[in-house]
Formats: sequence, structure tokens, C-alpha cells
Amino acid sequence: MTQPTTTLALALREGGYAKAPTPQVPDSLAPFLDLREVALPPLVPGQVLIEVILSPVNPSDLFFVQGGYGQPRVQGHAAGFEGVGRVIATNGADALLGQRVAFLGTGTGAWAQHAIADATLCIPLDDAVSDIDGAALIVNPLTAVALVERARSGGQAFVVNAASSQLGRLILGLARDEGLTAIAVIRRPGEEDALRDAGAAEVLVTNAPDFRAQAATVLKAHKPRVLLDAVGDQATADLFFAMPSGARWVSYGKMSDDAPSLTQMGQFIFMDKHIEGFWLSRWLPSAPADRVAAVVKQVQTRFATGTWTTRVAAELPLHQALDGILPAYATSTGKVMIRP
Ligand SMILES: NC(=O)c1ccc[n+]([C@@H]2O[C@H](COP(=O)([O-])OP(=O)(O)OC[C@H]3O[C@@H](n4cnc5c(N)ncnc54)[C@H](OP(=O)(O)O)[C@@H]3O)[C@@H](O)[C@H]2O)c1
Repeated sequence: MTQPTTTLALALREGGYAKAPTPQVPDSLAPFLDLREVALPPLVPGQVLIEVILSPVNPSDLFFVQGGYGQPRVQGHAAGFEGVGRVIATNGADALLGQRVAFLGTGTGAWAQHAIADATLCIPLDDAVSDIDGAALIVNPLTAVALVERARSGGQAFVVNAASSQLGRLILGLARDEGLTAIAVIRRPGEEDALRDAGAAEVLVTNAPDFRAQAATVLKAHKPRVLLDAVGDQATADLFFAMPSGARWVSYGKMSDDAPSLTQMGQFIFMDKHIEGFWLSRWLPSAPADRVAAVVKQVQTRFATGTWTTRVAAELPLHQALDGILPAYATSTGKVMIRP
């Protein structure tokens, strides 16, 4: 097969970082992306070329295209951190040739007909894993395993907010299977029963009138010492300050555009409380290779057996993505997938 030298992509209009803080969701993607043919650079040793099948829109993608994420944009490269596709060329990783893989778009992004990735960051997929699950098999699932491990280090019970997110649901299911008590926090009512089915022992709704009283009762009963936080708003801070001595606030996402006030600084001194961060991009290279291999196997098995599934809100072809992503994302009913 002749290797393509260009590909149709949702390409980044600017490089580097934004000059001011960015919102989680922009008003429009048009200032940040355009649909065009972009060059595919020659593969360097250890890289593969992938024909992309599906790629999800994750919250991190929306921060990234605006320049508000933890790594700089490369002008003219496709956006999109992960996806599923078939390897059509390699430079030194011939065992992957022809394989269907979950991949991280480390060479060029995944919102394109073709993407370049590092072979070491490609996961050959079992036939039992669907394209939908394969497309979102790395970013959230590996994070779920790493965060549940962190939750377990704090004891039997933990709190997780944005619990109706894809990642939140993965965390709830895994926590239940590992015998942990997960206290799910969501911002609005409606998903309580679904989250109990997914694995939550308790569900708290931050905009419910009795949220503070409910939270006090649940915290007293279960004494959670880890708060897995993807929101970062005042309700999160208030919940953390209501948790017992030794509690750790693990910030791994910033879905809220509001900054919280830290109202009880004395708790860091007198109650041994801590705030820390988690980023998969740091965890992955620092975890032992055998641990990562075991996590990848665990994750794939959970999808292959249907223990975990990926909810989909919409599937968009590339030419509809620029206008279609944000309205579909706003429904908050699952992943928006791009099918190039
Ligand atoms: N640090 C890492 O390495 C890492 C890795 C993977 C994911 N993450 C983070 O994990 C989080 C979840 O990712 P995902 O892909 O699972 O997300 P997702 O499925 O797109 O869901 C996003 C969730 O965020 C909630 N949300 C949005 N704005 C909110 C606000 N202002 N206050 C409270 N909740 C809000 C939504 O709640 P509703 O259902 O009420 O709309 C929804 O449940 C994101 O923050 C993502 O960046 C971090």
C-alpha cells in the first residue's frame, strides 16, 4: 500500500499555550481548529501510521485546543489525544502492522483520517473489544485504575465527584468490584439510581437544598479520607473541609470555571490534610512497566467482558465535527465520537 503523505484533519490553528486562562468549554471551536489537509511527516523509528476509525472528544481535548492544557499545541497538527484505528505502516514495529489498536496520538493528533503514534503507546485490541470501547480505552480507563489505587491507599471509603462522567462511572464500577465504598457526588439530580447501579454506595447532589446535611451524615458514617476531584469548585472545597483528619484532595480535572476559596487553612496544619494532583501523562511514564502492562490487560478485559462500557452521545464525521462537537458535548449523555 502507498503510504499517504497528507491527511484530512481538524488542525490546530495556533501553537503553544493560551495567554489567559481558558474555560472548560469554548463558545465555538472555529477560532481554534479548521478542517484541512495536513502533512504527515515521515515515521521516525518506533512510530506507526494509523488509519483512524473513531476518536472521542474528551474534556482534556477541549482545554488543549484552546491552549489551556498541560502541554503545548503544535500549529497545523490534528487535535485529539486518543482513538482506535488500524496500523497501516510502521518504522521498526512490524508486529503491529495490520493490527487494530487503541492509541495515543503522540506524533500527530487523532481527529484526522490518519494519525502517527508511538508503537509503545498502541494497545492491540482483542476482537471482543468494540471500536467504541477501543476508542476510549486509554485516557479514562487507565486513569480510573490509577485513581482507585490512590483511593484505596486512603482506606475503605472515598469520595468521587463529576461521578456521572465516563471516568466517574468507570471508577464506581471498579471500586465496587474491589470492595471499596464509593461516595458519588453529582451536581444535579436524575442519575442517582444509575450511579448506584454503576457501583456507588452513596450519591450526593450538590445543588440539592439539603446537600450540606446529607454530606455531613454520609461523611460521618463512612469517614472517607480521599476526595477524587474533577470539578474544583467551592462545593468541592467545602466537602473537603468537612472530611476527617488526614484527608487528601486529589485534583485530576477542572470541569468548573470557578476557583474555590480555601476557607480553613488551619486544617492543613492541625488536621494533616493535603491537596495533590494526578495526571496520567506523569503516571504512565513513571509507573513500572509490568504494572502498566497489568493495568492495560485489566482494562481490556473489563471492556471485552462488558463489565465496563462507553456511553456515546453522538458520532460525527470529520466534516460535521467543527460545528457538531459542542452541541453534542453539551448534552452530557456520553462521549462525542469523531468517525473520520
Ligand atoms: N488528570 C488526568 O490524567 C485525567 C485523565 C482522564 C480524565 N481526566 C478528567 O476527568 C474528568 C472526567 O472526564 P470524562 O471524560 O469522564 O468526562 P465526561 O464523560 O465528558 O463528563 C464530564 C462530567 O463533568 C461534569 N461537569 C461538567 N461541568 C461541571 C461543573 N461545572 N460542575 C460539576 N460537574 C461538571 C458533567 O456533569 P453533568 O453530567 O452534570 O453534565 C459530566 O458528568 C475531566 O475533568 C477530565 O479532564 C483527567
